[in-house]
Amino acid sequence: MRILLTAAFVAVSLISAAGAVADEPTVIKFSHVVAENTPKGLMAQRFQELVAEKTDAEIEVEVYPNSQLFGDDKVLEAMLLGDVQMAAPALSKFSRYTDVLALYDLPFLFEDLDAVDRFQQSEEGQAMLNAVADKGLIGLGYLHNGMKQLSASKPLRVPEDAEGLKFRIMSSDVLEAQFEVLNAAPLKKPFSEVFTLLQTKAIDGQENTWSNIYSKKFFEVQPYITESNHGLLDYMVVTSKEFWSRLTDEQRTEVKAALDEALAYGNQIARDKAIEDKEKIAESGRTEIIELTPEQRAQWVEAMRPVWRQFEDDIGAERIEAAYRSNDD
Ligand code: SIN
Repeated sequence: MRILLTAAFVAVSLISAAGAVADEPTVIKFSHVVAENTPKGLMAQRFQELVAEKTDAEIEVEVYPNSQLFGDDKVLEAMLLGDVQMAAPALSKFSRYTDVLALYDLPFLFEDLDAVDRFQQSEEGQAMLNAVADKGLIGLGYLHNGMKQLSASKPLRVPEDAEGLKFRIMSSDVLEAQFEVLNAAPLKKPFSEVFTLLQTKAIDGQENTWSNIYSKKFFEVQPYITESNHGLLDYMVVTSKEFWSRLTDEQRTEVKAALDEALAYGNQIARDKAIEDKEKIAESGRTEIIELTPEQRAQWVEAMRPVWRQFEDDIGAERIEAAYRSNDD
C-alpha cells in the first residue's frame, strides 16, 4: 500500500513539475552599467513593461542596472556564453569585436544628436548594426545618451590645459588616441570604477555625458566641467544570435516592436536629460561649468582632428565622410 501511495505521489509531483516548466516565461536578462534614472536605465524599464504587455508575459525582461550583473568589459562575453540575453554597451566598448563602430568615437564628428539620427537612420548607419554579426551578436538598434563633456581637477579651456593629466576613458583605441594627441595620459577603466578613481585623485579627469556625470555624482568630485560637446556617447542594443534564434517568429516581432518603442522613448529622455541634468549640476554649486569661446573650441577641434586620419583605414574613409555629411541638414 505504502509503495502504491509513494508511486502516486511521485507521479503527481512529476506532472505538476512538467506543468510549471511549460508555464515558465522565457527570461531576457538585460544587464547595464548606468543608474536607473538615465536614458538607458529608463529605456530598459520601458522595454520590460512593453515586452510583458506585448507577449502576455510569455517573455519576461529582468533589468540589472549599475553593473550589478556584469560590467561593460564582461557583458559581451557573458552574452555569448548565454548568461545574459540583452545589453546596450556604449559603442566605444565594441572595439574587441569590430573596428568600424569606432567611427562613433571620432572627436568632433557629429555636431549634435540630429546629425547622429540622420546618419544612424541612413542605409550606412543601419548596416553598421551588423558589424558584430560574425561574432555571434545581433545589433537590434541604437540608443542615445548624448554629447560628452570634459571634467577635470583644473579648468580646461584650451588643449594645452590637458597636457600631462590622467583621464579615464572607455575601452576604445580612438579615445586613447584622442587624449594622446593632447599629450595627456588616457587610462581604460570600467565605468563602475570612475567615481572612486576621481575621488581618490588616482586620475585627474574623464569625459562623459551630462546624465552620467549627474547620476554617478562625478560633478561632486570634479571642480571643473568644460562644455566641449567633443564626442558622442551612444549605445547599441545587442542580443546573441543563439538566443534570438530560440524565439519564435512572433516573439521576435513583438520583442523588436517593444524595443523600437522603448528606444524612441529613451532617445527623447536623452535629449531632455542633457538639459535637465546640466542644470542640476550647475545649480549644485559643486563645480564650475566652463563654456568655450568659438576660438577656444576651434583649438580643440584642430588639436583632436588628426585622430580621424589615424583610424581612417580601420573605419573606412567613405564611412567617415558619410557620417560627417550628416551634419548638413
Ligand atoms: C554608459 O553610459 O553605459 C557607460 C559610459 C562609460 O563607461 O563612461
